[in-house]
Amino acid sequence: MSASATQYPNYSPGLEGIPAGISSISEIDSDRSSLQYRGYDVHDLAEFGSYEQTAYLLIHKKLPNADELKAFNERLGAERDVPEAVYTALKALPKATHPMDSIRTAYSVLAPFDPDYTAPSTDIAANIRKAERIIAKASTMVGNGHRIRQGLEPIKPDPSHGAAANLLHLITGTDPIPATVKTMDASMTLYAEHGFNASTFACRVTCSTLSDLYSGIVTGIGTLRGPLHGGANEEAMKMILEIGTPENAEAWIRDALATKKKIMGFGHREYKKGDSRAFYMGKVAKELGVEKGNTKYGEIAEILERIMRDEKGIFPNVDFPAAYAYYLLDIPIDLYTPIFVVARVAGYSAHAIEQLENNRLIRPKAIFNGDANLTYVPLSER
Ligand SMILES: CC(C)(COP(=O)(O)OP(=O)(O)OC[C@H]1O[C@@H](n2cnc3c(N)ncnc32)[C@H](O)[C@@H]1OP(=O)(O)O)[C@@H](O)C(=O)NCCC(=O)NCCS
Repeated sequence: MSASATQYPNYSPGLEGIPAGISSISEIDSDRSSLQYRGYDVHDLAEFGSYEQTAYLLIHKKLPNADELKAFNERLGAERDVPEAVYTALKALPKATHPMDSIRTAYSVLAPFDPDYTAPSTDIAANIRKAERIIAKASTMVGNGHRIRQGLEPIKPDPSHGAAANLLHLITGTDPIPATVKTMDASMTLYAEHGFNASTFACRVTCSTLSDLYSGIVTGIGTLRGPLHGGANEEAMKMILEIGTPENAEAWIRDALATKKKIMGFGHREYKKGDSRAFYMGKVAKELGVEKGNTKYGEIAEILERIMRDEKGIFPNVDFPAAYAYYLLDIPIDLYTPIFVVARVAGYSAHAIEQLENNRLIRPKAIFNGDANLTYVPLSER
């Protein structure tokens, strides 16, 4: 006889609300709409810190002092470039390849070039070195991947650039201005880590088999790609562009809700009173609009936010303001989720290391509801 869900009162579809492990990396407080990385509020890290300080905090479990940060930045700078084989592989991909598939492929190619490739997956020191290389090369692979698909040659990363500046430099081919770097850096800090989200959890599942960090990263990227997760920032921008003007926004959203459309960039499994990161990013995105003399997207956003809150009690998540901030920075829409990857590899790496430090194979149970004990009928008699 088949088991049924009623025999498992703790069963929760999508594992909603189910603790699936112990972690000291980040804490989401849904009631206070707050997010802390290793005890530090993400808003403080975004406002006063940097993506590099955040990545150091996630991997090395403490904020760096000035000397540690200098040394960390130098190590990342020295590791920004990637082997030619990565570019050869990216050049071989069809023109229509989504940049998420390119960055996933790039990490697969990169893995065997890591000097610690043959180190056991439980070698913590080697994993930390791998994590730094994984973080250092992400912006180069996304930035130069974008150049390659445009038929341009990759350019050498400037080792003095942080991840945000490197990314902007390679995407635009010009030296980025500090204000733009600050906006990108803040968004990457907010995107760097977020507990047991689907892609991080998938990364941990992979590492729990004692597979390696790179395999965990590739799993994470594949999982992040979907529109219910990282892909939402791209879908949110397409929606804003479809709406077009603030005058169209109210009618558009009311019609979308009446026809039960999912509004991309709204809602969150963990935050039912609002995503803390969206409060900060929304402020940054709206200020950017004022600076750029283009407040249209901020105005559309305010109308959607008001109606979603009043009609559905649903708030924007970080993908919503990040989407129109990136658009105002002239970033091509299909790079939004890859930029999320550039930031999130720090979180994936921290989780992979934590999983491997104290591993237990992640192997949940399925509630079976299929047929059982059927009599095998030979092929010729079916
Ligand atoms: C993120 C998400 C998957 C979380 O979903 P969840 O915790 O599983 O919540 P559910 O999808 O069960 O939604 C609960 C209710 O809110 C509604 N809802 C949630 N998000 C919504 C959205 N973005 N637009 C419209 N309605 C939404 C659902 O339709 C559902 O309503 P119902 O009870 O009347 O059926 C969901 O909010 C979503 O799909 N958002 C859009 C994609 C997105 O922005 N993803 C990025 C997340 S960081």
